[in-house]
Amino acid sequence: IEYNEQYRPQIHFTPKKAWMNDPNGLIYFNKTYHMFFQHYPDSTVWGPMHWGHAESKDLVHWVEKPIALYPDNLGYIYSGSAVIDKKNTSGFGKLGKTPLVSIFTHSNPILRKEGQDNYQYQSLAYSLDSGNTWTKYNGNPVLNNPGIKDFRDPKVSWFEQGRKWIMTLATKDRVTFYSSINLKEWHKESEFGNDLGAHGGVWECPDLISFVVNGKKIWVLIVSINPGGPNGGSATQYFVGDFDGHQFSTFDSKTRWVDYGTDNYAGVTFFNTKKRKLFIGWMSNWQYANKVPTTSWRSAMTTTRELSLKKINNEYLLASKPVKEYEQLNLAHSSFKNIDLTDDFDLTKKIKTSIDRSRIQLTSDYLKSFSIILSNDLCEQLILGYNESQNEFYIDRTKSGKIDFEKGFSKRITSPRLVNNNKVDLTLIIDDSSVELFTDDGLTVMTALCFPQKKYNNLKLKSNSNFLINNLDYWSLKSIWN
Ligand code: FRU
Repeated sequence: IEYNEQYRPQIHFTPKKAWMNDPNGLIYFNKTYHMFFQHYPDSTVWGPMHWGHAESKDLVHWVEKPIALYPDNLGYIYSGSAVIDKKNTSGFGKLGKTPLVSIFTHSNPILRKEGQDNYQYQSLAYSLDSGNTWTKYNGNPVLNNPGIKDFRDPKVSWFEQGRKWIMTLATKDRVTFYSSINLKEWHKESEFGNDLGAHGGVWECPDLISFVVNGKKIWVLIVSINPGGPNGGSATQYFVGDFDGHQFSTFDSKTRWVDYGTDNYAGVTFFNTKKRKLFIGWMSNWQYANKVPTTSWRSAMTTTRELSLKKINNEYLLASKPVKEYEQLNLAHSSFKNIDLTDDFDLTKKIKTSIDRSRIQLTSDYLKSFSIILSNDLCEQLILGYNESQNEFYIDRTKSGKIDFEKGFSKRITSPRLVNNNKVDLTLIIDDSSVELFTDDGLTVMTALCFPQKKYNNLKLKSNSNFLINNLDYWSLKSIWN
């Protein structure tokens, strides 16, 4: 296929055909990044789940591989993770080959139909050929269901201090921590969160990661929730605190969001990337994922992002930025200085290339209300910017193009600004059916889908309050598919 259908993203991963949701088993091994994903190859709507597979050398260009895991008599293959079992704790390694082990949820449609609560349990598969082919463990499942209806999405990491594997598992309205020394036998350690954070919907896809900030190890627990996101539908919250190998405890009880946009869900980080915390989310929302107006495929992943933890006014805040590897896509570059927005600034008049796939960066020492307007010849427009009186960033997609496929889609999406000063920086990544906005060094992130029926070919900046831009940089971007 050519990857050039209407709305097909050009700088984001999409499956060649059919349905995709959550990224699974993100892992770096033998100089290759592997991404597995929730996949139903027979339809463009959600169905019996498989693990699709894609590989990348640079986190930007992906090559789709054969399906890694098919449903079997224990159930559909739901979300999960993958680890490198260097010490062969599982015993799956043979002839000195290091096993990759995936830990995933089996969701049994027959038990579900019968109205039983115990239809989700955790299972293993392993690969001895760098993730190309997988063998399911004949002792599956390795973690049985204790009678909890939502019991899924195991994310496993190695806890060096305790020399054991730690699993975070989504268990309805909380995260349950388990530990194991061999990936096959799991011992319950503790529960977290039934009385903390957002609870507008079920908890899914947890991930426990750590950062060193000023010499101190700080833990972050990422938890997706559906519905109940800050702008409707699904979204991903996080908690900052301590983990002692048994229990996670938070520093405070504020609810914080990885991304305020509507379209970053079920995101998790890669295994084995050392200090770099690399994150990919599913760029959609369960509110309308099955209805977006794409043809032969459905859904994309977000750009790969590098996470960091910053201490700001005595709070730890998570920041995300597109990984630096995206710079290789930069084509034509234009740079402007000291733009006074007393008059509108029409970027498209000043550049020769198109804006439908581009990266825009700006900085200012005098933040005031302003907007960036993307539009096309059909008068469809997507407006984003900053509103000073509300102290919020926003993306307004109410007139952005095709919006009528689901009533929740047409929306003005907002995010509070998390710092209080006049200095601002903004990065905007525009693709054929999405925008990703990163402001204040990645502290505020908003990812949003949009479906302009003709490509946006005009970009204007406006301000009613004399917003002065110090620097504005624009790059058109190369497609990752050719
Ligand atoms: C999150 C999720 C997971 C589940 C998977 C099923 O989007 O609902 O909890 O494992 O999708 O496809």
